[in-house]
Amino acid sequence: MSTVRTLIRNGLVITAADETHADILIEDGRIAALAAHGTAVAQSWTADRTIDATGKYVIPGGVDAHTHLDFPFGGTFSSDDFESGTRAAAWGGTTTIVDFAVQTVGHGLREGLDAWHAKADGRCAIDYAFHMIVSDVNDHSLKEMDLLVEEGVTSFKLFMAYPGVLYSDDGRILRAMQRASVNGGLIMMHAENGIAIDVLIEQALARGETDPRFHGEVRKALLEAEATHRAIQLARVAGAPLYVVHVSAEEAVAEITAARDKGLDVFGETCPQYLFLSTDNLAEPGFEGAKYVCSTPLRPREHQAALWRALRTNDLQVVSTDHCPFCFAGQKELGRGDFSRIPNGLPGIENRMDLLHQGVVDGHISRRRWIEIACATPARMLGLYPKKGTIAPGADADVVIYDPHAEQTLSVETHHMNVDYSAYEGRRVTGQVETVLSRGEVVIDRRAFTGRAGHGLYTPRSTCQYLN
Ligand code: URP
Ligand code: ZN
Ligand code: ZN
Repeated sequence: MSTVRTLIRNGLVITAADETHADILIEDGRIAALAAHGTAVAQSWTADRTIDATGKYVIPGGVDAHTHLDFPFGGTFSSDDFESGTRAAAWGGTTTIVDFAVQTVGHGLREGLDAWHAKADGRCAIDYAFHMIVSDVNDHSLKEMDLLVEEGVTSFKLFMAYPGVLYSDDGRILRAMQRASVNGGLIMMHAENGIAIDVLIEQALARGETDPRFHGEVRKALLEAEATHRAIQLARVAGAPLYVVHVSAEEAVAEITAARDKGLDVFGETCPQYLFLSTDNLAEPGFEGAKYVCSTPLRPREHQAALWRALRTNDLQVVSTDHCPFCFAGQKELGRGDFSRIPNGLPGIENRMDLLHQGVVDGHISRRRWIEIACATPARMLGLYPKKGTIAPGADADVVIYDPHAEQTLSVETHHMNVDYSAYEGRRVTGQVETVLSRGEVVIDRRAFTGRAGHGLYTPRSTCQYLN
């Protein structure tokens, strides 16, 4: 914990609720006070270190609600571990991640969670928490869900996709939802009809359609929408809230919107890749499209407007990265000649705050909405607020000094993620993280990494704070 008093002067402080020209006093790793510039109170403050934020935004550190570090998929592991992944997150202005621990079929939740603690312990540059992927719903794992909620792992991801691996059938999903309705857990759903998709994969491969672009064609928007609809109905029957992860199809957004119009506790997350990339990328020649293989898949670019609109109308509430990087060389290449063998996932943990700021620059969302979908709501949704996700007295001093005018070009040459390509190679964006504090410690200092592996702490969570 920092014992240093830090002052951030002259910045525009942006939270989900307000934009104020205020100075911030940080003590012992927490926000001690805010006061308007130039007031007697602000001028009376003294500190060991003063950061001048003139002309800059001062925003809460990003909360990335969906990452996969050191994650097993398709016979390999995502290429960022907890050390490299959290360092890259810090570079991108994210100060908290919630990563997915995995239950292996035939084993308990506890075993899976312990394994993820061992992967992360002592390696993280920023704070972290866990969700639990439940791949084997049975009497034992249902009981374990209660224990996990008690100890701060309050959300559980289920898969309607990937039969034979992570998939749960409707009966298992219903049972997990019923349990969550009692123990307060939040069910997070990968909503794609995996059984139907597997038929389409087999048929496509039999026709010789093996290129990456067919990954997008078989994982149809209608099958995302159908699964989203089914998940919503199952959650209604169980009386449980539902959070649909990585929503990419306009038709799936419509299902979530309809549920929310009925007043249901149904929430949706999308990711920067669905807002900025499209099936055009999946169709890039020479197997380049493999770089963009993720599930749910990228959609035709027309879907992007629907996603931005839903972010504006709060029909989608959160933007996370679903950071799940695989190198092109040796990992994505596993699927040459068979798109179904390409490991699913995109890198992005470092790019989210900047890409969403570009959404502000492009007029899709306001500055406060930027902070709401990237910091405050993920923290509320996952029981981390107001410790995380805002700048207010008592909150952890997770603070980003953001230069809204800096121009940068996203590239593998300059990023810090441990992956050999950028999904946004050559894209110009306006805005850049300048300095990052994690619990009062400067971990990025005017674009130099000053953090360390092991600074980041495991952060248990309360239950969802976003319910109606
Ligand atoms: O393609 C993806 N999204 N990979 C990570 C696993 C998941 O389904 O979130
Ligand atoms: Zn998923
Ligand atoms: Zn994911």
